[in-house]
Amino acid sequence: KQRERELMLEAHELTAKLYNYLLLNTEFGRAAKQYLASRGITDKLIEQFRIGFAPDRWDTLVTFLTRRECDMALMEKGGLVSAKNDGSGYVDRFRDRIMFPLWDRDGKVVAFAGRVLGEGQPKYLNSPETPLFNKSGSLYHFHAAKSNMRKSGQAVLCEGYMDVIQAWSAGVEEAVATMGTALTEQHAAILRRNASEVLICYDGDRAGQAAALKAMPILEKARLGTRVAVLPKGQDPDDFIRQNGPERFRQEIIGHPVSAVKFKLIYSRNSHTMVEEEGRMRYVKDAVRLIAELDSPIEREFYLKELSAEFGMSLETLKQDCHRMHMQMQ
Ligand code: GTP
Ligand code: MN
Ligand code: MN
Ligand code: MN
Ligand code: MN
Repeated sequence: KQRERELMLEAHELTAKLYNYLLLNTEFGRAAKQYLASRGITDKLIEQFRIGFAPDRWDTLVTFLTRRECDMALMEKGGLVSAKNDGSGYVDRFRDRIMFPLWDRDGKVVAFAGRVLGEGQPKYLNSPETPLFNKSGSLYHFHAAKSNMRKSGQAVLCEGYMDVIQAWSAGVEEAVATMGTALTEQHAAILRRNASEVLICYDGDRAGQAAALKAMPILEKARLGTRVAVLPKGQDPDDFIRQNGPERFRQEIIGHPVSAVKFKLIYSRNSHTMVEEEGRMRYVKDAVRLIAELDSPIEREFYLKELSAEFGMSLETLKQDCHRMHMQMQ
């Protein structure tokens, strides 16, 4: 088993080198290189993140690994190649995709994510779950972000690979991402061991904001301080950085997060129609419930005051209701 693991790790390392070489130094990689350049991925970032390219052929990796006398059944187990249906051999798993190596905590390549050039489905194809790789316990770029998290006490949690890469290039070096899965308790435990605060920096769309809302209780349960860096509508961190530059990303987005409760209030507000009396009332009730979850009486009063000012309601009424709910929650 230990030997198998070593061989799989070796094969992943070789494969990362091959794909990176094909991207940078061969005709196969030309279009992919252009695509990456058009997305602001510089050669320096390609090197840092060891990005590569898998050509549009069935046997690039199979041939390469066979020449190095790799056991193909083992390579299949490792998720690098697929067995043909008729049992007559193996084919490359990744074809015509930009390849992002995925690392374990020690910085060893244990899997890949492959992105289509431009449009196409699936947008990202990942390695399967293997003895080396379990995605519900892995965070993209964690091995490199870890020391920065420890320094700042804060982890920045993004949705996508490109977000982490652009955040890094913008000087936000404690960014990690889940890999196409929702945040798990395992993820939260890893973060908790290295930081005391998590800054959620998900996409500025409905899906991203809903995912942020779902991540919060998981982080809070792990006793992580949780705040949200809110992106403008329709933008993710990668989009924002390329449109507005690293400076503004650090200042306006990373530098001005909202508290967890504020985020929940904004989300709830956006979910109700404020033009109707009914919607406004439901929002106020929901808001009071959210505020009631806060442990600190000072914080509760702070947000209740904002609410009372906004809707012209007496602070006393809101306080009474809030206090009653708070007690029920204990
Ligand atoms: P770009 O379009 O390259 O900027 O990617 P993105 O990260 O902005 O993609 P998106 O916001 O759609 O999705 C966020 C993350 O979810 C991605 O980085 C992937 O990890 C994951 N994801 C998105 N689409 C797919 C898919 O088709 N398959 C898998 N397995 N994961 C996906
Ligand atoms: Mn998205
Ligand atoms: Mn995105
Ligand atoms: Mn994106
Ligand atoms: Mn300021």
